[in-house]
Amino acid sequence: MSFLSVSRATTRAARINVNANTSPSLTKEPSWEKDPKYKTFSIYRWDPDKPTVKPRLQQYKVDLNTCGPMVLDALIKIKNEQDATLTFRRSCREGICGSCAMNINGINTLACICKIDQSETKIYPLPHMYVVKDLVPDLTHFYKQYKSIEPYLKKKNPLKEGDRENLQSIADRKKLDGLYECILCACCSTSCPSYWWNSDEYLGPAVLLQAYRWMIDSRDDYSHERRETLQNPFSVYRCHTIMNCTRTCPKGLNPGHAIAMIKRDMALD
Ligand code: SF4
Ligand code: SF4
Ligand code: FES
Repeated sequence: MSFLSVSRATTRAARINVNANTSPSLTKEPSWEKDPKYKTFSIYRWDPDKPTVKPRLQQYKVDLNTCGPMVLDALIKIKNEQDATLTFRRSCREGICGSCAMNINGINTLACICKIDQSETKIYPLPHMYVVKDLVPDLTHFYKQYKSIEPYLKKKNPLKEGDRENLQSIADRKKLDGLYECILCACCSTSCPSYWWNSDEYLGPAVLLQAYRWMIDSRDDYSHERRETLQNPFSVYRCHTIMNCTRTCPKGLNPGHAIAMIKRDMALD
């Protein structure tokens, strides 16, 4: 756009402002004045304070014309306007914190980056986990497993005097792409049949992707030892390459491939 057309547009905008008081059509906010467009959300409810009441699906109608575009927007609207007891986790609302992971229409995903579609939506907590309340799964065991892989840089020799950073080449840093982005939402682990049945011993795709991330970090000195601790029939080898994990990852990562790489490196050790 030329300077001239910019300044013409600015002048026109100013004129609209000046006339705003006398021309109601220019002050309208059309999106909030449309006829309501209702959609039903069926949401899993369970209250630990009422242990004799069985879990159930509860229906809520939401006007999509006054709601944001994502499933998390609808949940927040329901909580604010219809039912303050509805319980779910959320924080960043942009796919970074991983806390709004849940099962939406049969797929484990993040509610904050899942668009509302037109048909009825069913929402459950992440599958095969103990439920704390409503859509909140108990991730205690998941985090214990994460802790067990020691997810931090381990050095055999302390930094030399004067060194303040553990340097890494650009090529070595690039090897962490596709791994470091994992937000530990647990969508993949809770979609994995092997994890459903063996989660007491099998680490599951999320934790194994993280384990691989540290094994191949050029700055870490414990790659071999990290693989050694996984040498047993359960930690890794319960993965049967079904690939549900990779299909469901809302960040587009490939934990199935990371597990395959661990198995390959363990075979070559
Ligand atoms: S690999 Fe993907 S699905 Fe699994 S925890 Fe990480 S971000 Fe979530
Ligand atoms: S590839 Fe392995 S970790 Fe992923 S869903 Fe299948 S069994 Fe689970
Ligand atoms: S609210 Fe943080 S990932 Fe959805």
